[in-house]
Amino acid sequence: MTASTTAPPITTDDDWWRSAVVYQVYVRSFADSDGDGIGDLQGIRQRLPYLRDLGVDALWLTPFYTSPMIDGGYDVADYRDVDPMFGTLADFDEMITDAHALGLRIIVDLVPNHTSSAHRWFTAALAAGPGSPERARYLFAEGRGAHGELPPNDWESIFGGPAWTRVADGEWYLHLFDPAQPDLNWRHREVRTEFEDVLRFWLDRGVDGFRVDVAHGMIKAEGLPDVGFSTMTTGQRQVELLGKGRLPYFDQDEVHEIYRAWRPILDSYPGGRMAVAEAWAETPQRLARYIGPDELHQAFSFDFLDATWSADSFRKVIDTALAESTVVGAPTTWVLSNHDKQRHVTRYGDGDQGLRRARAASLLMLALPGCAYLYQGEELGLPEVLDLPDELRQDPAFLRTGESRDGCRVPIPWSGELAPYGFGPAGSELSWLPTPATWQALSVGAQTDVPGSTLELYRAALRIRHEHPALAVDADGVTWLESEPGVLAFSRTAGTTVLTCVVNLSGAPVAIDGYGEPVVASAALTGSGSTRLLPIDASAWLERR
Ligand code: NOJ
Repeated sequence: MTASTTAPPITTDDDWWRSAVVYQVYVRSFADSDGDGIGDLQGIRQRLPYLRDLGVDALWLTPFYTSPMIDGGYDVADYRDVDPMFGTLADFDEMITDAHALGLRIIVDLVPNHTSSAHRWFTAALAAGPGSPERARYLFAEGRGAHGELPPNDWESIFGGPAWTRVADGEWYLHLFDPAQPDLNWRHREVRTEFEDVLRFWLDRGVDGFRVDVAHGMIKAEGLPDVGFSTMTTGQRQVELLGKGRLPYFDQDEVHEIYRAWRPILDSYPGGRMAVAEAWAETPQRLARYIGPDELHQAFSFDFLDATWSADSFRKVIDTALAESTVVGAPTTWVLSNHDKQRHVTRYGDGDQGLRRARAASLLMLALPGCAYLYQGEELGLPEVLDLPDELRQDPAFLRTGESRDGCRVPIPWSGELAPYGFGPAGSELSWLPTPATWQALSVGAQTDVPGSTLELYRAALRIRHEHPALAVDADGVTWLESEPGVLAFSRTAGTTVLTCVVNLSGAPVAIDGYGEPVVASAALTGSGSTRLLPIDASAWLERR
């Protein structure tokens, strides 16, 4: 692909992220340019026109750095290079140049909590031995028990099992995730300097922002105190605790020093360079502390990921997120799917019902104020792949907990009749995870220009979201309207123009004529004239001018 010279240039609006639609690219599974069955940077480059036509503003790329890929690239061995499986730095430069020429911004993932065990710092730490300066960059400690044979404390890995691994000389090192992801010691000056330099490295290459992995985890409480996990049953218990209580390795006050050092670096570059935190905190007030003019720009609001299909549940998620946004003083973010969670088609019941509900939820999300994060393939209505053979699953959590995130990471179907449906170049039959036969009918090619397809629904919704004054960044927020039980209705207003979003989560069709003229709907409306009905499990946008 060569970028068109007539394409709209990227805007200079420093606040672009406030109402952006960001499309998450799981690089390994998006598009494979060289036929090895693994997505890559040139594959993304070739598909940029698709993303421009879809109508998104920015891409968030999951880690593409040098990595042994134990945790899908969230185990980084070299923060300043591209893994050969994804391409080269030159490929990255070409991709970002073309993206910018098409008006698309690029957000990259930053993984500061831990490195890969293949990182040069960690191999040096192992070689250097206890008490060495090399070990000081990580969290090594002596074990408990008469011979140090027990882990230094009771912390559990988020992927299951103890958060400590013992090395040959008897010391233990901390890994909140896989043993191949040793936690860094963020009280070490060199660690801080290194990451400030990594930020500059990618900012110099033109990136528009960073998604900060485990942004609440870098500082651990002094003395590494026990949590009390010994009284709990499984590692799963910890997952339940995430975000609900302040664990000694999450959301420590000192973590904010790190972001206060990063913000001036971001601000020293032109064009609104931003950072979004993957952070979990006990209260909205504590989450708010990550955001603001001297720290990060956004934090993900993950509540939609756990919301059940009910008017009460959705209403609660929206009201909570909007209230948090008021506390934080920054627009909220909305996420229905990502690379860590079961796809929302499947969460809402799978099959036709799941798809109908997923389409309705997406239309709801896109009418809300703030920044929406889409996960690749949701615009095609892809479900979770539930029947992957165990031997193909690669999520490190699978072996430890039996739970796997591979089913939402299956390569995207682009076109054609043979798997993997255009994921690779013509004739390539390889894909690192198999693509289900049912995805032929869900491919981009199969849905393009097909009225009523999920892809065309997303395109229409994104176009209207960009053009409609009542959905603009300076339009009014959400005003809830009275509605029947099980039905959500809210309006957004700009001057005399009102756009109303109605979501039917009740068990019966609902009359919507009172709200205005339909502009887009997730399912065909029934009835006609003054008796237009919104079917069950559907949403519609209606306008009045
Ligand atoms: C959050 C990422 O989204 C997830 O995929 C990863 O496994 C962990 N952080 C560890 O880096």
